[in-house]
Amino acid sequence: MTELDGSCIGRERECQQLSALASEGGGQALVIRGEAGLGKSSLLAWAVRQAEQQGHVVARAVGVEAEWALPFAGLHQLLYPLLRTSGAEDECPTVLDVVLGRVAGPAPSLMSLGTAVLDLLARVSSRKPVLVAIDDAQWFDGPSSEVCGFIGRRLTAGAVKMVVTIRCDSGSRFDTAAIPELHLGPLSDSAAQELLDTHYPQLDPQSRRIVLEHAEGNPLALLELPRCMERRDGELSLPNSVEPQWWVPLSRRLEQMYRPRLEALEPSVQLELLRGALDGVGSLSSAGASQEMRYRLRNVDEAVARGLVSVEPTSGNLFFRHPLVRSAVVHMATPNERRAAHSALARCHHNDVERRAGHLAAATVDPDEEVATELEAAARSATLRGGAATAVAWLTRAAELSEHTARRSRRLGDAAFVAGHSALFDQALQLVGSSDPPSRRASPPPQSSLPHTWSSISAATWNPCTGVWSRPLSAFIAGRLRTALTRCSLEC
Ligand SMILES: Nc1ncnc2c1ncn2[C@@H]1O[C@H](COP(=O)(O)OP(=O)(O)OP(=O)(O)O)[C@@H](O)[C@H]1O
Ligand SMILES: [Mg+2]
Repeated sequence: MTELDGSCIGRERECQQLSALASEGGGQALVIRGEAGLGKSSLLAWAVRQAEQQGHVVARAVGVEAEWALPFAGLHQLLYPLLRTSGAEDECPTVLDVVLGRVAGPAPSLMSLGTAVLDLLARVSSRKPVLVAIDDAQWFDGPSSEVCGFIGRRLTAGAVKMVVTIRCDSGSRFDTAAIPELHLGPLSDSAAQELLDTHYPQLDPQSRRIVLEHAEGNPLALLELPRCMERRDGELSLPNSVEPQWWVPLSRRLEQMYRPRLEALEPSVQLELLRGALDGVGSLSSAGASQEMRYRLRNVDEAVARGLVSVEPTSGNLFFRHPLVRSAVVHMATPNERRAAHSALARCHHNDVERRAGHLAAATVDPDEEVATELEAAARSATLRGGAATAVAWLTRAAELSEHTARRSRRLGDAAFVAGHSALFDQALQLVGSSDPPSRRASPPPQSSLPHTWSSISAATWNPCTGVWSRPLSAFIAGRLRTALTRCSLEC
C-alpha cells in the first residue's frame, strides 16, 4: 500500500503509479500533465521525497517564465549536482562545459549533448539509482527541453527515472518528445472535502459550500478561495473576479485569488516582488533547486505575513508561495513598472552578459546603441554555447534598437546568418527579406539586410558571431537562402 502524506490527499492511484515507476527495473520517463493548481508539483515533490528516503540521487530543475529564453538555463540546474556526484567536475572539458559556458569550443549538436548527458547519468546511476525531476517544464528553455526530451526517449537501460510536470494549457517542446503521460484530473468530491476540512476545520457551512462548488476539485482553489470570501449585502460570497467565466483561462482566474492581497501591500514590497518575479525567483515547490543565479528577495515580511511568499526552512531563502503568485505580480504591474524593474535587474547582473541582455532588451524602448552592442555580445555568447534561437532573437532586438541604419542592417544580416546556420530557415528568410524590423517601419530610409547577410555568409570564417563556421556549410546556407528567395520572388 502506498504511504501518502497530507500533501497528496486523494491521489492514491497516481502515487502508486509513481512508486511502480521507481521500483521497476530499467530506465523510464513519465510526463505528469494537468491544469494549473491540480497538484502536479505536489506529486513530483512526493516522488522526490520517496526517492531521497530510498537513498537515490535526485537531480531537480524547475522552469520559470523569466528563464524561458536563456539557453540551457534548465539543463544547468540538472548538470551541477550530477557532475558533483559523478566526480567528473575536474575531468577534461567536454561538450557539457561548452554549454555551461566554462570553456570555449564548437557549439555542440543535440545528439552530442544528449549523448554526453546520458553518459553522465549512466556513470552516476552505476552507483545509485537516479531520479531526474523537472517541474514546470512548460517554462523550460527550448534547448534544455530538446536535450531532456532526447534523454527521456532513451532511458531504457540503467537505473535512471525521469518525471516531468507540464501545465496542459501551455505548449512545450516536451509535447513532441513521445514520453508516456499521466493526465491529472480534479480531486473526487470526497477528497476535495477532506482537503478543505483538513485546512479549514472552522469554515462556516455557507462558505464551505461555495468554496467546494467553485473549486471544482482543484486543490489550489480549495486552499485559496476561503481566504477570498467577502460579505456583500450581508451574504458571504466570492468577489466577481474569481467567479467562473468560461472565456478566461483557469490559470488567469486562479491568479485573481491573490490580487486583493497583492494590492494591499506597500508599494516598495510590490516592487521588490516584481523584481523577484521578473528574475525567476522560484515557488516553494521548487525550493532546493538551483537558485544561486537569481535575484534574492529582501524586506518582504508583509508578503510573508499575507501568505504570498514563504520561507524555505533549511536555507531561509524566500520563495513565491506558488508560481501563480509570481504571474499575478507581473500581470498587475504597469509597463513602466516592469521596464524599471528590468533596468534594476540588468544592473544587478552586470557580470552575466546573457542575463543582463535579457533584462536590457525588455527595459529599453527607444534606439540605444550601447544596449544594441550589449545584445550583440550576448548573442555571440549564446551562439557559441549552442543557443542559436536566443541569439537570433537578441540580434533582431539589437537591430530594432540600433541608432544607425547600416548597423541595423548588419545586425539583421547576422541574425539571418545565425538562423540559417542553425537550420532555422523560415526565420532566416524572414530576416533577409525584412527591410526593417517591424517596430521601425515608419522610419526612413528602409534598407534590406540582404547584402549584409551575403557578406556575413561569404566572410563566414571570421564572422564574430560564429568563430568556427566552415566554408562548405556557409555555401550550403547561402544556396538554401538563394533558392528560397528566388522561389519567393517568382511566386510574388
Ligand atoms: N492532493 C493534494 N492534497 C493536498 N494538497 C494538495 C494536493 N494537491 C495539491 N495540493 C496543494 O495545492 C496547491 C497547488 O498544488 P501544486 O502547486 O502542486 O499544483 P500544480 O498542478 O503544480 O500547479 P501549477 O500548474 O500552477 O504549477 C499546493 O499548495 C499544494 O500543496
Ligand atoms: Mg506546479
